[in-house]
Amino acid sequence: MCGIIGSVGILNHYKNVINGLKRLEYRGYDSSGVSYLVNHDIKMIKVPLMVENLIKQVRPFISENAIGHTRWATHGKISKENTHPFISFHGLFSLVHNGTIDNYLNLKEELIENGYQLEGETDSEVVVNYLEYLYLENFDLLKSLNLLDQKLKGSYSLVVIFRENSNLYFLKNQTSLLICKEKNGYLISSDLYAFNKSKINYFELQDHQYGFINQNECCVYLNNQVQNVLFSQITIDIEPLDQINCYLEKEIFECPKVLEYEINHYINNNQVIIDEEIIDKLKKASKITIIGCGTSYHAGLTFKRFSLHPNIEVKLASEFIYEKNIFDNNEVFIVLSQSGETLDIIRSLDKVNDYFTIGITNNKESRIARMVKKHLDIMVKKEISVASTKAYFGEVVLLYLLNAKINNSSLNDIQELPKNLNFVLNQSSKIKDIAKNVSKYSSLYFLGKGIDYDACKECSLKLKEITYIHSEAIPLGELKHGPLALINEKFPVIIIHSLPEFNKVIDLAKNEIKSRKGNIFQFELFKNNQLDFLLQVLFGDLLSLYVGRILNVNIDKPKNLAKSVTVE
Ligand code: G6P
Repeated sequence: MCGIIGSVGILNHYKNVINGLKRLEYRGYDSSGVSYLVNHDIKMIKVPLMVENLIKQVRPFISENAIGHTRWATHGKISKENTHPFISFHGLFSLVHNGTIDNYLNLKEELIENGYQLEGETDSEVVVNYLEYLYLENFDLLKSLNLLDQKLKGSYSLVVIFRENSNLYFLKNQTSLLICKEKNGYLISSDLYAFNKSKINYFELQDHQYGFINQNECCVYLNNQVQNVLFSQITIDIEPLDQINCYLEKEIFECPKVLEYEINHYINNNQVIIDEEIIDKLKKASKITIIGCGTSYHAGLTFKRFSLHPNIEVKLASEFIYEKNIFDNNEVFIVLSQSGETLDIIRSLDKVNDYFTIGITNNKESRIARMVKKHLDIMVKKEISVASTKAYFGEVVLLYLLNAKINNSSLNDIQELPKNLNFVLNQSSKIKDIAKNVSKYSSLYFLGKGIDYDACKECSLKLKEITYIHSEAIPLGELKHGPLALINEKFPVIIIHSLPEFNKVIDLAKNEIKSRKGNIFQFELFKNNQLDFLLQVLFGDLLSLYVGRILNVNIDKPKNLAKSVTVE
C-alpha cells in the first residue's frame, strides 16, 4: 500500500511531488509528507492527514531533489511520528517506503543497542536508521543499500535522499518501483500514474535492484553488478488533475460506455474472440477455481452461476493461501483483480504457479498480469474511487463472455447490457428518494435469492465502504432461520430481486418482514435478461453514492481503506 514519488535533476520538484501525491492518494491517505534537499540541508513537512491538507502547509520550493509519500497505516497508529518521510538519527538520510518489513523489530533492537533513538512505531523508520547504521560502518552508500537488501525481510520500495549529494537512491523488492526519464532528470514512483502525464519513458526495477538517479544518470545495480537500463515508451489514459469532484459518481455513470467498449472488443461478427488456448483449457479443466478479494470476489461468484462446468469453486484469496490443497494437472485457476496488484492474489498465484492460470484485471501492466499464464484485460479505464464499481461490471462481463464462448450460447443479453444500465442511470431521482429513507438507519439487510444473493453481497459491501452503515447480505431462504429476529421498525430490508421465477417466495418474505414492522425498499426493474442482477448492483452503487452524499462523508476516500491492497 502507500504511494511514493521522487523527483531529481533540473525539474520542478515541488510540482512533480505534489501532483504525484495527488495521483497516488488512492493507494492510501492516512497521512502524507514531503522531503527535499537544499544545499546539504534536508527539509521535511508531514501531516497525519490527506494530501489536500499537506498542500496547504507546503509552500512551493526550489530544491535539488524531492520525495513524497502518502500512507495507508500498517505498523503504528496514524500520527505525525509515524508519517513518512523519516529522517535518520544522525540526519544523513530521508526516506519514503512502500511495503512491510517482517523482521523490523529485531533490527530495531539492534539499532537501540547501538545508541539509536527512534520516535515512532513504523517499520520504515527502522529502515532509514538501519541504512544509516550500515553506511556509518563502510561509508559506501551503494554497498550499504546492497547490505540493507540482504538484511531486510519483507516487501520494500525505498527512495532515499542523502544529505551529501543531490542523487536520489533507491532499492526495490516485491512491490513495484518505476523510473521515468525526463529531459533534465528523472522521476521515480510506485505507480506509472504518479508521473502525471500520458506518454511515459519508463524503466521498471526488478527485485533486489538498487542504485541512484540524478540529472544525467540512472545507475542500477544487482549484487554489485551494473545492470543494463533500457527505457520503454508507454501511453496511458490520464485525466487532468482536480477536474473531477467525485470519482465514484463519474465511474458509475461511465459504466454503459466502458462496458460497451469492452463487449465490442471481445465480440466480432457475433462471435466471442478470446485466446483459444484459454477456452480449450477451461473446457478440459477437471476443476476451475476462481480467486478474488472484496468486489472482485463478488464478481467471481457469478461465474459459477453462469457456468455448466460441474466442478467450480470460488475462493477468497486470503483463505485460499492458507488452505491445504492437492491439485491435479488439469485444474485451471482464474484470478480476478481490478488493480492487478493485490498481495493476497499474488500469494495465491505463487501457490499455483505450476498450473494454468488466467488473470482478469484492469491493468495489463500490473504484477498479476505479468505473473499469470494468460491475461485478459477488462479495459474499463483506470478506477480511482476506492469503492470499485465499473471494474466489478467489467469483470462480470468477461466471465460471462468466457462462459458464452465455452457453451456457445447467445450473446443477445450481454449486448443489451449497456442500454439497460443506462435505463437505471436515468432513474437516479427515484433512487435518491430511496436513499433519503435508507440514510436514516444504522443497520439493514440486503435480501436476495440465486444470483441476486451474489448481488446483495456486492451491494452490502458498497454501502458499508461508502456510507459506514452496517449491512448484511442474506439469502432469501435463510431469513426465517435467524435473521428475521432483528427485523423491526428500526431495521429495514432492501430487496434485490431480478428473477421473476422467484416472485412468489419474494412476496412471502415481504409479508413476513411487514408483519414484524420492518420497512422494505426495492428498486423494481425487470428487463427479462440474464444480466438483470447487474441492474440491481448498479442501483446499489447509486444508492450508496446518494446515501453517502446525505451523510456528508468522503465518498471517494472512505475511512481506513485504500484501493490497492498490497499488504497481507
Ligand atoms: C480493496 C478495495 C476493494 C477491492 C479489493 C480488491 O479492498 O477497497 O474495493 O474490491 O481491494 O481489489 P482488486 O484490485 O484485487 O480487485
